[in-house]
Amino acid sequence: MKNIAVLVSGGGTNLQALIDAQQNGILKSGKINLVISNNPDAYALERAEKAGIKAVVCSKKDEGSNFEDKLIEILHSEKTDVIVLAGFMCILSEKFTSEFTDRIINVHPSLIPSFCGKGFYGLKVHKAALDYGVKVTGATVHFVNEVPDGGKIIMQKAVEVKDGDTPEILQKRVMEEAEWKILPLSLEKVCSQLK
Ligand code: GAR
Repeated sequence: MKNIAVLVSGGGTNLQALIDAQQNGILKSGKINLVISNNPDAYALERAEKAGIKAVVCSKKDEGSNFEDKLIEILHSEKTDVIVLAGFMCILSEKFTSEFTDRIINVHPSLIPSFCGKGFYGLKVHKAALDYGVKVTGATVHFVNEVPDGGKIIMQKAVEVKDGDTPEILQKRVMEEAEWKILPLSLEKVCSQLK
């Protein structure tokens, strides 16, 4: 069993999908034993507590230039094998990513390489997709390296864009049809293949 840490910033619906996957046996090669939020007000923290998972806050505001060192220290103290960025709204430097090479995965709400990289996060991604006029979007789970949204792709799933979509409506459809499905499956794949 691999030790999994999930890093969050907000609502935590992807964290919830992972907790559910653990409960229904889709995630079986690893166990979520830590949730870290950079935002003390994230609802994701409550989801972790409800599921009996240790949840801690580590914020840039409190830690300043020590932020990534502190994150690394917490992750090592829990013997973390695999890290999931599940709506974690911080860009991590090479110092952090090289500490956990091929052990960090991220879910991004578009079909990479479209609408990704610095500045593309949350609803902004869906607004950009609608502004461009794409008829198909989706979600991507990928390994995390020093290039924002630039690591090797693990899974993708396409989602239809419909007439009249708003960023909020499209975000919900992409989450339901793609993110909440491919994130647990990708995590199980990575945990089961890790030596
Ligand atoms: C999700 O749509 C996730 O893909 C996105 O933020 C949302 C978090 O929702 N992540 C990014 O945009 C990262 N670049 P959640 O807190 O409910 O899981």
